[in-house]
Amino acid sequence: MRVIVTGGAGFIGSAVVRHLVLDKGYEVLNIDKLTYAGTLSSLASLDNQANHRFLQADICDRNAIQEAFDTFRPDRVMHLAAESHVDRSITGAADFVQTNVIGSFTMLESARAYWNTLAGDAKAAFRFLHVSTDEVYGSLGENGLFTETTPYDPSSPYSASKAASDHLAKAWTRTYGLPVVVSNCSNNYGPYHFPEKLIPLVILNALHGKSLPIYGSGSNIRDWLYVEDHARALDLIAERGAIGETYNVGGRNERRNVDVVTRICELMDKFRPQGKPHSQLIEYVADRPGHDARYAIDATRLETELGWKALENFDTGIEKTVRWYLDNEWWWQPLRDGYDGRRLGLLQGEVPKKS
Ligand code: NAD
Ligand code: DAU
Repeated sequence: MRVIVTGGAGFIGSAVVRHLVLDKGYEVLNIDKLTYAGTLSSLASLDNQANHRFLQADICDRNAIQEAFDTFRPDRVMHLAAESHVDRSITGAADFVQTNVIGSFTMLESARAYWNTLAGDAKAAFRFLHVSTDEVYGSLGENGLFTETTPYDPSSPYSASKAASDHLAKAWTRTYGLPVVVSNCSNNYGPYHFPEKLIPLVILNALHGKSLPIYGSGSNIRDWLYVEDHARALDLIAERGAIGETYNVGGRNERRNVDVVTRICELMDKFRPQGKPHSQLIEYVADRPGHDARYAIDATRLETELGWKALENFDTGIEKTVRWYLDNEWWWQPLRDGYDGRRLGLLQGEVPKKS
């Protein structure tokens, strides 16, 4: 099996690449631009693996991407490369439109040109997995879950750009017959997560005795999934998902943000006691503009049709994650030197509110 993975130096992409290379023994061509969010250190465990090749390229570069298809000749594509941080998309959306929309368009067009050169079984078996987010569905109220038929209603520049790319992906099946499958997943957490996102940011700030910023009231809810469970789900969807269909991925682990931060504080009290509770570092700050209230995924289709099951729940996964950050300073310190955790995504003139 020969697989092109885009964004394989990022958080989820590197988990996917490690899974495909080490557990499945696939031949992987990992294409990544190495933006601020991508680092080859996340792939250090693959250093001696002949079945992993890395290509530094921009997914918007049609010539580079077409050449990669034509020379590597994949059986499958797993497209994860994206600008992924909501707060950064509020500060400036240009890179999000460029990479998430134009980059996805370029991937689809390159795949289509390559797929059109295939014949017989190779053409029938080819798959393009477009990896997306539950944020395309917008915000839930107190009840209900996102299903595969929930209408799109994105709130942020990030989620709007992902929604646009999902529509392109579906259109490439309907119009050109390209065998695309789409996945929409809830919030991931785990090792190698860039420390701008809530969980790694809070772990490192707690470690360094810095304030733990909670946006708004802290009552916003996210549905957390351990990243390795997502990686296995993506492999399964690429393998067995039906062409032109969507699969929601989620761990059935809804938590309020304040409860996530409090749990991390409890674990830090246990592993790195400071004489006073880490929860004293919590600070309620100005809310995120357009902050979605609640996400929650109904993963029934993935569970019943494809037989996927998450191996971690939030309690086991968050403990593993906190331990991983405490044990792997070599990985996060260079990233933390480049980005110190300062607040992103406030509108002009807005200042973080003190509690
Ligand atoms: P990430 O920001 O950690 O990694 C993104 C990777 O893409 C980086 O390695 C970066 O260098 C690369 N990249 C960015 N622009 C590129 C370009 N123009 N060309 C080539 N490479 C480029 O993101 P992530 O959290 O791993 O998310 C991966 C995918 O999964 C994204 O499509 C995201 O929308 C989706 N997703 C993320 C989550 C989550 O909770 N993190 C949940 C659901 C879906
Ligand atoms: O739902 C899937 C999405 O999850 C992915 O598509 C995105 O790529 C990924 O970044 C994530 O988006 P969120 O915006 O939910 O993740 P983030 O970690 O930025 O924020 C999680 C919640 O915590 C959200 O309600 C905002 C809040 N928050 C975030 C930060 C960074 C805080 O309260 N304080 C913070 O400092």
